[in-house]
Amino acid sequence: MATFEKSGKADPAATVRHAHVIGWGMAVPETVMTNDELSAFVETNDDWIYARSGIRQRYIASEGESTATLAYRAAQQALEVADILPTDLDLIVVATSTPENIFPSTASLVQDWLNAHEAGAFDLSAACSGFVYALNMAADSIRAGSIDAALVIGAETMSRILDWQDRSTCILFGDGAGAVVLQASDVPGGVLSSVLRSDGAGGDLLAIPSVGSIDANRSRAGANGNKLYKMYMAGGEVFKFATRVVSESVEQACQLAEVNISDINLVIPHQANLRILQAAARKLDIDISKFMNNVEQYGNTSAASIPIALCEAIEQKRIQDQDHIALVGFGGGLTWASMIIRWGIPTPSQQQSSVLNRQRRHVQYRIAKWRSRSRRWRRRVNSKVRDFQS
Ligand code: UT7
Repeated sequence: MATFEKSGKADPAATVRHAHVIGWGMAVPETVMTNDELSAFVETNDDWIYARSGIRQRYIASEGESTATLAYRAAQQALEVADILPTDLDLIVVATSTPENIFPSTASLVQDWLNAHEAGAFDLSAACSGFVYALNMAADSIRAGSIDAALVIGAETMSRILDWQDRSTCILFGDGAGAVVLQASDVPGGVLSSVLRSDGAGGDLLAIPSVGSIDANRSRAGANGNKLYKMYMAGGEVFKFATRVVSESVEQACQLAEVNISDINLVIPHQANLRILQAAARKLDIDISKFMNNVEQYGNTSAASIPIALCEAIEQKRIQDQDHIALVGFGGGLTWASMIIRWGIPTPSQQQSSVLNRQRRHVQYRIAKWRSRSRRWRRRVNSKVRDFQS
């Protein structure tokens, strides 16, 4: 079993496995769209958007950028920080509502591009709660002993499923990706508890009618007459739901982790609306300064928002060793999810091996392209040979 180089902290029982975050990374598209730019083609304005949501700008993917390319960039960064090789990964999960395809999964594309050929890969659909769901799945697999290392990514290109004529939704969302590497350790800590919940009765409050929808088969319009493949939302209802479940589920996750609310050093919530975070902070009686908030810069990036906020919190040195962090997501489904993590950043054993690993990673990324092409080419040749023989 993989362990961290943290002398004096090993669990004497030694058989208990813990899942620690050992790497993190994020990526956003190059293009920024400000509220003023948005106001040029939608009937809205910066004052309204900022006052109602706290958003000033968002990143929008260009033609050459996609959910998978953003996920890949975030994944490379996370592997760099973790200082492990893609071939060390046993599992890749991408939480997304805007997958590259229905299948193959975005996770399989990332697996191929990274040359992570020892890893299983799948996408997970739980809307804006998806990253916490995925992290919980990976942590459980690590703790159960079925895997040692997992790459968990939240990645979205929301701009591709927005109805740009619907001012009640298109002003809120943006594109981006965030990733973490989770690794097994006998050092206590890491993911302590999770609470996952769903209320399908609220499914019609926030949705993207898609291929399998019964309504979609009847006509070109989706459920409730909304446009196929475009998001719609009953904003006010979702707002009320969100303020309720954020506080409830963080409290439940704290109870499961046997941690007091007052022991939480930082809450990293899904970045949907600053007003939701303010209401949740009041309900939890936690000072708003303990809530990570970057919605102003990125808008709502759905499953990507929590890992992006986590990366920024680390960069701003808002997370220290042994801190208790609460992650909380909420959104379509309806779904919501909370998680308590006790942070324990491992120290790389030798700087020398880091340099070596960096070179080995870059070689693996280059090999990945050739490996993928040669496998496709071999498959085509084999199929031609079979055709010729029959
Ligand atoms: O990530 C998934 C989870 N999603 C969320 O958590 C989103 C939750 N909901 C929200 O954040 C808020 O409900 C919104 C930001 C979407 C809307 O804020 P609101 O305070 O609930 O506004 P509203 O929808 O009640 O609209 C108020 C007014 C309406 O005009 P009237 O009927 O009062 O004359 C709207 O037509 O604002 C109007 N309006 C706008 N005005 C300018 C709606 N959208 C816009 C706009 N610009 N973009």
